[in-house]
Amino acid sequence: MEIKAIRGMNDILPGDIAKWHFVENTARRIFHLYGFSELRPPVLERTELFFRGIGDDTDVVEKQMYTFIDKSGTSVALRPEATASVLRSVIEHGLLGMDPIQKIYSIGPMFRYERPQKGRYRQFHQINVERLGEDSPSSDAETLSMAYDLASALGLGGLRMEVNSLGCDECRQEFKKTLMAFLQDKEKSLCSDCSRRMKTNPLRVLDCKVVSCRQAVEGAPAIENFLCEGCRVHYEKVQSALMAFDVPFEKNPRLVRGLDYYTRTTFELTAEGLGSQNAVAGGGRYDNLIQTLGGPDVSGIGFAFGLERIIMLLDQHAPEKNGCFVVLQEDEAVQKSSLELLSMLRSAQIPAEAAFDKSFKAQMRKAGKSGYPLCLILGQAELEQSIVTIKDLQASSQIQVPRAEVLQKIRSMLDK
Ligand code: HAM
Repeated sequence: MEIKAIRGMNDILPGDIAKWHFVENTARRIFHLYGFSELRPPVLERTELFFRGIGDDTDVVEKQMYTFIDKSGTSVALRPEATASVLRSVIEHGLLGMDPIQKIYSIGPMFRYERPQKGRYRQFHQINVERLGEDSPSSDAETLSMAYDLASALGLGGLRMEVNSLGCDECRQEFKKTLMAFLQDKEKSLCSDCSRRMKTNPLRVLDCKVVSCRQAVEGAPAIENFLCEGCRVHYEKVQSALMAFDVPFEKNPRLVRGLDYYTRTTFELTAEGLGSQNAVAGGGRYDNLIQTLGGPDVSGIGFAFGLERIIMLLDQHAPEKNGCFVVLQEDEAVQKSSLELLSMLRSAQIPAEAAFDKSFKAQMRKAGKSGYPLCLILGQAELEQSIVTIKDLQASSQIQVPRAEVLQKIRSMLDK
């Protein structure tokens, strides 16, 4: 019987890979402009890292982690996000001791046991960014600006950047108390998760997607009115720096994120055309997380894009195949000469392919569908005259050139 992939875990097929390369290359290009470098942590970590880092009261840790005991008896987990892993790596390798400002990105698969639907998978990929060691509101705004630049460079339409401030531990305490009192009367309309979280983590009730919870929080107090002086000034400065960076944004006082480590600035970027899972990126500041994970008292801010959601929004990107299809003859001596031609093309860094075991007619058909702009034909007559026929597959025209000049001619035809 055929064995199928696990639900919510997708293959990325050759027909789609050009889009993935486009997104990844664009991200690398934009991050380079802002001075970020890549770090690649492993996909498997000690489970404890995520308990401590993300918060054991979050959906991600409570319900969605792929956790198991390995052969040495250690509890390990497939990373549900990259932030905790990147920070673990930065702390472990003492990177902040070498340079107190770290600007890091990572690209790779994440794992969450969620109910799969369009735009939500159990293995998905993130483009993740962390910026450590700066407290300035301008560094928040520059980080958000980088996210916005990337989304724009990818050509995503209908972008909306929503921002909020979640304050610090102190001002959030006051807000939590008031919010709890507000929610007390609404408990009957809350879903079972929210009526439990109302007591432990009431902020999460604010972004529950269940309709009755949404109705219940209408008229709830806004955190902006509870910010302490330091957090209020920080939030205002973030907004004016965003304007200086020319990033359009809206304030959303209901925006709380699904992970517990955020303080002060948080944001989400949505795009048109995604349906209910419309967040392409989200992130925010975390002033205590590095210390919680055993590192120095240094703050950070970051975000992650969901790659699958970006891919869904991209038009077809045909794989770029700027090379030649070489048609082979059955005659051994002629074929040998074509094989030498193939090898010569690749040595000159020109992509080249041939199809073995196929008739001349079938090879010509394959050349037409190959996506290469040129096809090379080397038959008995060409071999005797030491020439090669170059067919321009788009223009359907052909020329014959001396073999000694073939490379130069192909280069000029591929360049145009
Ligand atoms: P997050 O909001 O959990 O944040 O995820 C970021 C993005 O990953 C989402 O906006 C979405 O595009 C994508 N995503 C999340 N879950 C799934 C899924 N099951 N299937 C497909 N795409 C998904 C974080 O993960 C934070 N670590 C971001 C961050 C970095 N904050 C600070 N630094």
